[in-house]
Amino acid sequence: MASLVCFPFKKERIDVVLKNVRIAAKHSRVSVVLLVAAGKNETYEGIAKEIPAIEQANGKKIILKVQERVGSLRPGKGDGMNSALKIFHDYRPKLQRLHFYDADIESFSPLWISKAEDSADLEYDLVRHYFPRSSTDAQITWQVTRVGFSLLWPHKNIAHIQQPLGGELLMSRRAVKVFLDSPEVMERSDWGIDTMYTFAAVKSGLSINEIYVPQGKLHALYGGLRDLKTMLIECFDAVQTIKKEIIDTNSVHHVQAGEAVPVEVREKIGYDIEKSLELLRENWTTEQETLLKLFPDRIASGLMSARNFPKWGFMDEAAWVNAYRVLLDNFDKDNEDWCELLFKLWVSRVIHYTMRHVLRGYDAALSELNAMVRNVQLSSGKKVIQKRKELVKSSPLIGEPPSPTTSYLSATSEEQIGAGLGLGETPPFHSSIPSV
Ligand code: DGY
Repeated sequence: MASLVCFPFKKERIDVVLKNVRIAAKHSRVSVVLLVAAGKNETYEGIAKEIPAIEQANGKKIILKVQERVGSLRPGKGDGMNSALKIFHDYRPKLQRLHFYDADIESFSPLWISKAEDSADLEYDLVRHYFPRSSTDAQITWQVTRVGFSLLWPHKNIAHIQQPLGGELLMSRRAVKVFLDSPEVMERSDWGIDTMYTFAAVKSGLSINEIYVPQGKLHALYGGLRDLKTMLIECFDAVQTIKKEIIDTNSVHHVQAGEAVPVEVREKIGYDIEKSLELLRENWTTEQETLLKLFPDRIASGLMSARNFPKWGFMDEAAWVNAYRVLLDNFDKDNEDWCELLFKLWVSRVIHYTMRHVLRGYDAALSELNAMVRNVQLSSGKKVIQKRKELVKSSPLIGEPPSPTTSYLSATSEEQIGAGLGLGETPPFHSSIPSV
């Protein structure tokens, strides 16, 4: 099987990128290495100089290209990845598998490629790498994407994908074709691309295997949480765009078991906490105060009081899920006040989680994140089943409801009911841990 490995990049350490390119070029399963640049800059020039020597040493083709304008939103990571999909598709002789890896991974090794190839040999359409992450990292993944998928499609594979925003993955030729044919995927030129790949894969019934990379992805982490504002908005917007979609497949989804988490991941601090506390006081407007009235009282008054002194106690798991529903209904990504409000709500949530759970240690923090997602699936899933029973009762022609453990989870009417969840219909979410 001929495979192409793609590294999308922007401004990175040239030595790290080149080390990764050499690893890929040397790998026996790889025929072509593709570097897709966000634009021409120092990193681009530095890499360009080294390509002929790497090609010669490995007898492999190395392509360096600036990303095309493919989508219609902010030009970003989505355009980079979708440009790679097009290059892969048109390449001759035909290639069979496309891998993506972030160019800045310091812990990248041939194993990342071999594991994905082994799994694709078992004919999975999509192989996703997942790995241990610092307890203060991945706060868009957990608080936005995993909570959103669990709220909207609690019974579907999408609610169980470990790292739905992960940029390390292998696509079969079939998966590439599914994505190229999906207008939602191709228009997504920004950070929302990973959400769309995950959603389109599940919706179209592609088989998915999540493989575990125990050494984790050591890369540069963030300053204050403000560094993540654009990503947060674009990832939330991506979930909001698909909130009414029906998923009527339950494709194969396997997850390799995790292993012990290395000490450098357990001890890594994901963001600058002191810098982030300031964020709750910044950039307030009267419009944001008005928008806050849409939220439950406790959230609105809690966030308002954080203007004077850093406060976060009001944003426990239950409050966040309630706020999430209001956001799904009302958020407008083209309104800067909505963007800033979403950002502040999320900052208060991340700080609450940090102060209440990360302080108790790595294992306690991770177990809380998992419990939060599980609780959302439970409360949202129960509501789906309840609605389904009501529907069956009111339509005697449908007959007796099937056992909840089997066909309940795959019948069409559930999807139609489920598609409406998260829009103010779900029962209140109860956290197992009382708020402080
Ligand atoms: C996430 O949440 O996964 C983003 O990469 C930010 O850490």
